Amino acid sequence: MGFKALCLWLLFVSFLSYIYTPMPDNIEETWKVMALNAVAKTGSLMALCLENIGVMRYEEFVSMLISLDYTEPHSDEHITVTDTTFVDIPVRLYLPKRKSEAPRRAVIYFHGGGFCFGSFKQKAFDFLNRWTANKLDAVVVGVDYRLAPQYQFPAQFEDGITAVKFFLQDKILTKYGVDSTRIAISGDSSGGTLAAAVTQQVQNDPEVKHKFKLQALLYPGLQVIDTQLPAHRENEHAVVLTRDIGIKLVSLFFTKDEALPQAMRKNQHMPLESRHLFKFVNWSTLLPDKFRKNHVYTEPVLGRSGVSLPALMDHRALPLIANDALLRHLPPTYILTCQYDILRDDGIMYASRLQNVGVQVVHDHVEDGIHGALSYMASPFYLHLGLRIRDMYVSWLDKNL
Ligand SMILES: *[C@@H]1O[C@H](CO)[C@@H](O)[C@H](O)[C@H]1NC(C)=O
Repeated sequence: MGFKALCLWLLFVSFLSYIYTPMPDNIEETWKVMALNAVAKTGSLMALCLENIGVMRYEEFVSMLISLDYTEPHSDEHITVTDTTFVDIPVRLYLPKRKSEAPRRAVIYFHGGGFCFGSFKQKAFDFLNRWTANKLDAVVVGVDYRLAPQYQFPAQFEDGITAVKFFLQDKILTKYGVDSTRIAISGDSSGGTLAAAVTQQVQNDPEVKHKFKLQALLYPGLQVIDTQLPAHRENEHAVVLTRDIGIKLVSLFFTKDEALPQAMRKNQHMPLESRHLFKFVNWSTLLPDKFRKNHVYTEPVLGRSGVSLPALMDHRALPLIANDALLRHLPPTYILTCQYDILRDDGIMYASRLQNVGVQVVHDHVEDGIHGALSYMASPFYLHLGLRIRDMYVSWLDKNL
């Protein structure tokens, strides 16, 4: 048997073993989710194999697969869609064609992809942003940012800030007919991390005149300092995003040093001097009973690993560890979390922290939700779950923006 045949056979066997992964009872469209999971896990396995034999890095292979899904900007009868740049940051603009007497609302959107891949060009995000522009009769801006591991933190944050500050200038808002008092910022997954970090920065920066009226964080990742939350324990092998892959990707955001993911898997990656930050991620106080269940709190082991990265203690990378003074100035916030998601507790704890300092929070928890659902609402999976999440998010925006 040739090498190629052997590979194909192995992939086929792996697909078969993944397709029979049992799913939680309340998951709808079970077969579609099983297929999605098998495709994603097989792709991921292939990427790991290629990385191990030295052909290409894991994230390069996944990026390649995802870029097959990119779509050009297509205007339609309601919306003019164009790709342009804000300073040097690529953005996709959705401008409603309808005549409007008054200036419009606006939404800035950051896509997910573990900081390592993805773009506003993906079909699902293009569909979501067009939908938002249509439903709200709003100007929508999809923002790209430099990706890890080629570019590491804070490149992504800086790109986000650059694009946002450019958009929030009077002359730009006027150019696109935007009402400066009705602008929201949103993002999913790592895009939610960025949206949260950029919002903290903008709302607290006296030099930025126009602030956000709202922020919407869709299954965001908000911390990496405790990797043994109940959500990590329960979803270690979850659909599409496992704890292992989550750790692998988020590590690349900080460093290529393999010591970080290794230590992170054991929850021993934080330095001694980070002890004061653990109260901000203490799930035994910040998670409601319903999510704490019978899990027993164990303090992460500090000072064990040789990794010492200031970025691991930086709230621009981990918005959940920002202090109360920074959080107090945040606008009304929408947080959506999914039950079967390693990032679930990040969002729930952020909701608690914001509520504790008096920020208005609407928290929707999707009991049958899986991570990344918005990315699967377009072809080829068409998960109804993605459409449901889209509608929850867009209707909250419509009511509050
Ligand atoms: C977390 O909270 C528990 C109380 O629920 C407390 O015993 C523990 O010391 C706290 N840990 C940290 C690191 O703040």
